[in-house]
Amino acid sequence: MGYTIIKLLGQGSYGTVSLAKTDNDELVAIKILNIYRLKSAGFTLQHILDEVESLKILSRECSENVPQFIEYYQNGFQTDIYIVTEYIQGVTLENYINDKYDDLQSNPKLVWSIIYSLVKGLYCIHSNGFAHRDLKPENIMITSDGIVKYIDFGLACVEKCKWNDCKNSCVGRMGTPLYHPPEFYKYNSEIRGLTASQAQDIWALGIILYNLVSGSKNFPYDLPPNANLYQFKRLIQYAPTKKSAYKADDNVNKLIDFILINDRSLRPTINDIYTLTCDYIKGYDILDEEPSDLDTTMEIDYDSE
Ligand SMILES: Nc1ncnc2c1ncn2[C@@H]1O[C@H](COP(=O)(O)OP(=O)(O)O)[C@@H](O)[C@H]1O
Ligand SMILES: [Mg+2]
Repeated sequence: MGYTIIKLLGQGSYGTVSLAKTDNDELVAIKILNIYRLKSAGFTLQHILDEVESLKILSRECSENVPQFIEYYQNGFQTDIYIVTEYIQGVTLENYINDKYDDLQSNPKLVWSIIYSLVKGLYCIHSNGFAHRDLKPENIMITSDGIVKYIDFGLACVEKCKWNDCKNSCVGRMGTPLYHPPEFYKYNSEIRGLTASQAQDIWALGIILYNLVSGSKNFPYDLPPNANLYQFKRLIQYAPTKKSAYKADDNVNKLIDFILINDRSLRPTINDIYTLTCDYIKGYDILDEEPSDLDTTMEIDYDSE
């Protein structure tokens, strides 16, 4: 299909995302990955195929919270790569948090409706066996209807094999340091060896909720200004996280405390978080379905790697 580029939507480390229209005047988003940048960062064609495969499965299984996959082009890893998806009419959660700070402070129903959409989307991703591994407000969009869309599956991996050939299994520690869980930095290699990618997403979700109610540049760490990664690593290993202080509904703080558990083996699963969220939002008239309607066939067991 032919596309006409309309404007640039975003710029990442390996290329750009642009708004484009099809010959039928339908709007799409095209991610164009620069082949030279990919190669110099050590990426292979398999990485791209993995991103496309994750997106294909999750946009089908979690269609409410993941943009629809349309098509992709690659030429044997010789030229730039194009990934075409549904265009999300919305803003990144990072921009949303910055623009709506006052509304978020005074409107707990708004906060809970975003939390609910975040939790429901991640519940779907994890139930389908995947981990995202780069959750942060820049990789989440929110539509004008308040629906959360997870984007950027460039680091996604399969933790529990359910759909594909499962070559893309979760190994290593990937993503964005400020959203990484404490176990990534433990000097005790036994604990470090126990890293699990869905548990990484859970920690990142806790940090994102903290950002949501305190500002996108606020983290639950007492970091000195301009702290370097080394200082951050030392702090996250030993210091407890700062308490969130959302004034309009203390249950938001309780949910964040429930998620940000330093010990990975005690950290809740997305099932636990989903259940608690549904409990806390009773009375806000947000739930669109009963929790029992969701697929709970897949138990997530972090200790059986
Ligand atoms: N489907 C989409 N619809 C609208 N905007 C998008 C879409 N996908 C990405 N973007 C915009 O492009 C930016 C970069 O996209 P992302 O997939 O995160 O690329 P990168 O891998 O370069 O970080 C996002 O932060 C968002 O602003
Ligand atoms: Mg991104």
